[in-house]
Amino acid sequence: MSNNREDIIVDLKKYFRQQKELGIEYFYMTPVNRDSGVDEKTSDISDGEAKLNEDTHQMNLLNSTAKKMTLDEISEEIGDCTRCKLHEGRTNIVFGEGNANARLVFVGEGPGRDEDEQGRPFVGRAGKLLTKIVNAMGLQRTDVFICNVVKCRPPENRNPEADEMTTCGQFLTKQLISINPEVIVCLGSIASKYLLNSKGSLGSMRGKFHTYGNSKLLVTYHPAALLRNPNFKKPLWEDMKIVLKELQLPIPGD
Ligand code: URA
Repeated sequence: MSNNREDIIVDLKKYFRQQKELGIEYFYMTPVNRDSGVDEKTSDISDGEAKLNEDTHQMNLLNSTAKKMTLDEISEEIGDCTRCKLHEGRTNIVFGEGNANARLVFVGEGPGRDEDEQGRPFVGRAGKLLTKIVNAMGLQRTDVFICNVVKCRPPENRNPEADEMTTCGQFLTKQLISINPEVIVCLGSIASKYLLNSKGSLGSMRGKFHTYGNSKLLVTYHPAALLRNPNFKKPLWEDMKIVLKELQLPIPGD
């Protein structure tokens, strides 16, 4: 596909028309301009034509139809994935785990060594800290859903690259549509920038609810950052209190 805006529009129109012929009426989109205050939760096909964005992230979301899949169906669709280069070094796909009807979902960036070995998200040092945070909120890991933007470990724990997030992110989108949580907590800047389609700093994204589909989305520090800098503990707990308040759950210790 060309990078020229006009060509992209032509391609997208063609794509929308084909999808309509296949019976797909709605596409799930994040707001194109997060700063506009406009909340574009879903868009029908003719609206979609008017709201084009050159960013490949949006293309990825456009590929996720509103059809709600079960987590099992999504896992089956992922299969023994070779869609991006991350598959080359993985031991296990880390799909995510927890409550399929969770009111609260945590999203990290990608599996590390322990997660890759065990096929489970957030089970290493940072994961143990996340478990403590969840427990401090008066919840168990089984109450929430925990997952990542990419499902295979990036080599040497490097940040996932844009093409990897675009390829794998479609499954995160499907997971979030399937679970339909009230609140999504993005752990760290990688997941936050990805889900908000933002280039902003973590600091600029923190402290307020954003919108992602039907869900409210809050940005906070990655637990690994807390391991490096304990000064982040207090602001992270303030963020979790905002989440508990939104979910109308008791705030332990208050
Ligand atoms: N860091 C992440 O972002 N995700 C995990 O699953 C583990 C560590």
